[in-house]
Amino acid sequence: MNAPSSPESARPPLRVAVLASGRGSNLQALHRAQTEGRLPIALVGVFSDKPESGALAYARTHGLPAEALRPSEFESREHFDRALMRAAAAVRPDLIVCAGYMRILSKDGIRAAPCPMINIHPSLLPKFPGLHTHARALAAGETEHGASVHVVNEVLDGGRVLAQARVPVRAGDDPSQLAERVLSREHPLLIATVRAIADGRIRLQDAGTARVSWLHDDDLDLE
Ligand code: GRF
Repeated sequence: MNAPSSPESARPPLRVAVLASGRGSNLQALHRAQTEGRLPIALVGVFSDKPESGALAYARTHGLPAEALRPSEFESREHFDRALMRAAAAVRPDLIVCAGYMRILSKDGIRAAPCPMINIHPSLLPKFPGLHTHARALAAGETEHGASVHVVNEVLDGGRVLAQARVPVRAGDDPSQLAERVLSREHPLLIATVRAIADGRIRLQDAGTARVSWLHDDDLDLE
């Protein structure tokens, strides 16, 4: 498919590096959107702390530059994180997307980042930062849950929220059913947010400007 001829299409694509630890479904969603002409980015590298991760396997199968760093080979979290950021810097990203990157980044690592970083988190932040968000949302009796894309800063899951998508919590849901419903919205949410950054509608440099975009089904390019 040809890209539409708009002023945006004249811009060089946003260079995006992805950090991922797990199965990599968010990475796949970004890559599919890019290859189908729905997202004006270049995926310039995929980096992982898990050599056996599905995300790395996907990247290698699809010809994306991919690199694993093993935390056990570094003397501290800070050494690992600085090496990770050096590896990422080598592919000259404009944006780093943490897409299921499950290792907490140290302050040193965040300071060493070569560009802004965003993260996708499976809750409606500021509710439920950290792990086990679906079980915690159910235990708290929430009637809705969802996902957030936020800027990474030194507070875990605490940076400026850029966009969110909501899903209902249904009677009888267990954590995995709720996780599946949230994941079905994570992918379009992440694509829509990266697209908004790529075309300048979300500016990460204006760190002081709190702006949350609620993305509803009509805004999301649901697959
Ligand atoms: C997603 O739910 C993401 O929000 C969370 O970890 C999960 C990763 O999924 N941080 P995947 O590896 O992208 O499939």
